[in-house]
Amino acid sequence: MRAIEITGPGGPEVLEWHEVPEPQVERGDVLIDVAAAGVNRADVLQRQGHYAPPPGAPAYPGLEVSGVVAAVGEDVEQFTPGDEVCALLSGGGYAERVSVPWQQVMPVPDRVPLRQAAALPEVACTVWSNVFMVGRLRRGETLLVHGGASGIGTFAVQLAKALGSYVVATVGSAAKAERVKELGADEAINYRKEDFADRVTADVILDIMGAKYLAGNIRALRTGGRLVIIGLQGGRKAEIDLGAMLAKRASVHATALRSRPVDEKGVIVRSVVDNVWPLVAAGAVRPVVHAELPMSEAAEAHRMLDSGEHVGKILLVR
Ligand SMILES: NC(=O)c1ccc[n+]([C@@H]2O[C@H](COP(=O)([O-])OP(=O)(O)OC[C@H]3O[C@@H](n4cnc5c(N)ncnc54)[C@H](OP(=O)(O)O)[C@@H]3O)[C@@H](O)[C@H]2O)c1
Repeated sequence: MRAIEITGPGGPEVLEWHEVPEPQVERGDVLIDVAAAGVNRADVLQRQGHYAPPPGAPAYPGLEVSGVVAAVGEDVEQFTPGDEVCALLSGGGYAERVSVPWQQVMPVPDRVPLRQAAALPEVACTVWSNVFMVGRLRRGETLLVHGGASGIGTFAVQLAKALGSYVVATVGSAAKAERVKELGADEAINYRKEDFADRVTADVILDIMGAKYLAGNIRALRTGGRLVIIGLQGGRKAEIDLGAMLAKRASVHATALRSRPVDEKGVIVRSVVDNVWPLVAAGAVRPVVHAELPMSEAAEAHRMLDSGEHVGKILLVR
């Protein structure tokens, strides 16, 4: 089969479409004939040499796919060849086929075209597990989403809105502010023009900036608030004002999805299928796809992501 190989750390040009060995289908695995793969910020970090795949994961980039089940390994009863599925991966999605533990495989939600379903696993699992399972966002509470126009942000805005929260998102332009409001955000704050901590008080904050926003995030938390950090785009080391946290009875969480054991991912995946897929099937939450490019043009897709002009997800299709 063919897959995108990273020929060495560097710019988008290091992504090359090569003939590679077929994936092994081990006990408990599902082999997926890939229809589309989602492009994520983490793939850019992997391309640059900053984010190695966890042990045992395929070397090719790609954390999510949609496609058709081509074969199943021993002991897999949940899926059969011919099923249309999407899956959360530890790597290997930029390929014609990928083998993945059945626990990380999901049915395609009703009403979602097969290719577009590749835009869902990573954002749905990340947002559901962090905002709702860890952050325990409840109906009527306020969620602040940093990077509201990102793949993660566009899903977080829609899901929190569908579940009855007041949603505020930060964005980098007036055009993106309009887009996140169309997706349901009650307010959009242009981070280039205003300090979000002067504008909003939130019960839960989904943060992708890390160190740069830590003080502002703690200032913006309401009493009993929960800050959940999932990205370090603004650095990894910062001082924390424990006095401010203590007074607010606030908590700070930092999590990563990719490196979790299969069983933990399985718990998140099943919870997403039970709680999020019905909202997607009802049209209350939709995949937001900025562009679809042929898989062999992964380098162009990374240039697009690097440019920062996208809203939502970029897909590689076959
Ligand atoms: N921990 C985990 O398990 C996990 C899982 C998935 C993703 N993530 C993280 O989530 C983040 C989003 O991922 P993605 O694939 O959706 O990326 P993406 O679509 O490339 O989005 C990156 C976003 O960062 C925003 N941004 C840049 N500087 C900002 C600032 N100063 N303030 C607020 N926002 C700013 C950009 O906003 P504008 O375009 O509006 O300027 C853009 O929306 C990444 O950091 C990724 O590593 C973590």
